[in-house]
Amino acid sequence: MTSSLPAQDRPILSETAGSPRKRLYIRTWGCQMNVYDSGRMADVLAPLGYGPAETPEEADMVILNTCHIREKASEKVFSDLGRLRLLKQEKEAAGQRMVLAVAGCVAQAEGAEITARAPWVDLVLGPQTYHRLPEMVARASRAAGAQIETDFPVEQKFDHLPDAQGQQGPVAFLTIQEGCDKFCSFCVVPYTRGAEFSRPAAAIVAEARRMVARGAREIALLGQNVNAWHGEAPDGSTWGLARLIHALAEIDGLARIRYTTSHPRDMDDALIRAHGTVPQLMPFLHLPVQSGSDKMLQAMNRGHEAELFFRLADRLREARPDLALSSDFIVGHPGETAEDHAATMRLVEKVGFALAYSFKYSPRPGTPAADQPFQVAETVKDERLQELQALLRRQQDDFNRACVGRECDVLMTGAGRHPGQVAGRTPWLQPIHAIGPEGLAGQVVRVRITAAHPNSLSATLLDEKELACA
Ligand code: SAH
Ligand code: SF4
Ligand code: F3S
Repeated sequence: MTSSLPAQDRPILSETAGSPRKRLYIRTWGCQMNVYDSGRMADVLAPLGYGPAETPEEADMVILNTCHIREKASEKVFSDLGRLRLLKQEKEAAGQRMVLAVAGCVAQAEGAEITARAPWVDLVLGPQTYHRLPEMVARASRAAGAQIETDFPVEQKFDHLPDAQGQQGPVAFLTIQEGCDKFCSFCVVPYTRGAEFSRPAAAIVAEARRMVARGAREIALLGQNVNAWHGEAPDGSTWGLARLIHALAEIDGLARIRYTTSHPRDMDDALIRAHGTVPQLMPFLHLPVQSGSDKMLQAMNRGHEAELFFRLADRLREARPDLALSSDFIVGHPGETAEDHAATMRLVEKVGFALAYSFKYSPRPGTPAADQPFQVAETVKDERLQELQALLRRQQDDFNRACVGRECDVLMTGAGRHPGQVAGRTPWLQPIHAIGPEGLAGQVVRVRITAAHPNSLSATLLDEKELACA
């Protein structure tokens, strides 16, 4: 799901016709959109003969797809670049070449700093320029010195990226909206991803169909502000996200739809209703609120009060009684007092979350909050974060325990950690495993949940018929 989930640090696999002549390793940080983008970069390079590498050591090209959201995230890039410099030197000493590229939000925000601090980087490319990768790679292999490409022609990116290649796993991510016009006081995204852009409905539906044809059973629609999506409809009118979800629900074989990440201000009536009327829309919503204090919400430029969030939670649960909520929180935004923090704790108590991500405020260069007075001391942030995380942890445990004994549908995604196990996701996005054949991957199977662990559930399979045909 969301925004703030750390992306898997894994090579992106892309099949090419025949055996690849060159190998590509992509390391991905940040949100799911970066995961999607990494896949598209692999796709755009496949026709140039790049196939997947398992490690940077065996790669002819390494791309670091970076995240700028918090200081820690962006600093990791520079430590990785230090290690890759040595690898590059070793390869050059052995007469081999390795193209090193930095992509993503750090590239966008700190392109010049990267080339200054790490002159051994060959390419620096912002998130809107991935369709230009082949041309840049060709130029990089001819010329010395880093090339920087950090323009914002967002339409072009989607128009010019090729179709994804190869087999698709049961769960797919599909970017439908990119960029953000909200300018929350603390956030770099409007600067790194640019203005809000919605892809046209027809292009999204066509891409979803292709994903399903290649094996996807669940699609997560992605956007920095995904529920602000308003795209051109096939008849020339404008659709909102609810209408798009209805259109996607008509695709045969698409069992599950999710969307992430949403802003409370853009949860409109039609979208709330869709949670009650579209069975494929999963009963789980990631809706970041950041704080429970009206004063802080205003300082953060979130554009709503806590009351709106309470109302939304009630209305969503009225529409879909088994809906579970997840959220993001920031503690220690400039000006946050003990009373403001207490208001956040009260909001969490009142709403109840199945899952949540919480962060210490991290000042980001160029954002309004970074220059505000009354920065909160690190030790205070630590205390508040611990207190909040203890409550959120308790709520997550309670939610998982309350699932024990329930029956539900699980989308199986592959082998479990132990032999003889199959693993999948519940409608509420919990990882779950059961004794059963790995061949069930890609099927939606009825299970009974038998036990709750800190970050996963165990279950037994109920549907004998599914088992028989697996
Ligand atoms: N609406 C966006 C949010 C992206 S950032 C989306 O598509 O997900 C993900 C989360 O990171 C935010 O919800 C916020 O809780 C956290 N975050 C953003 N900037 C931050 C900062 N400067 N310090 C700490 N946490 C931050
Ligand atoms: Fe950042 Fe706010 Fe936009 Fe989310 S809504 S991406 S937190 S500016
Ligand atoms: Fe995503 Fe990080 Fe950029 S969260 S949008 S990769 S700053």
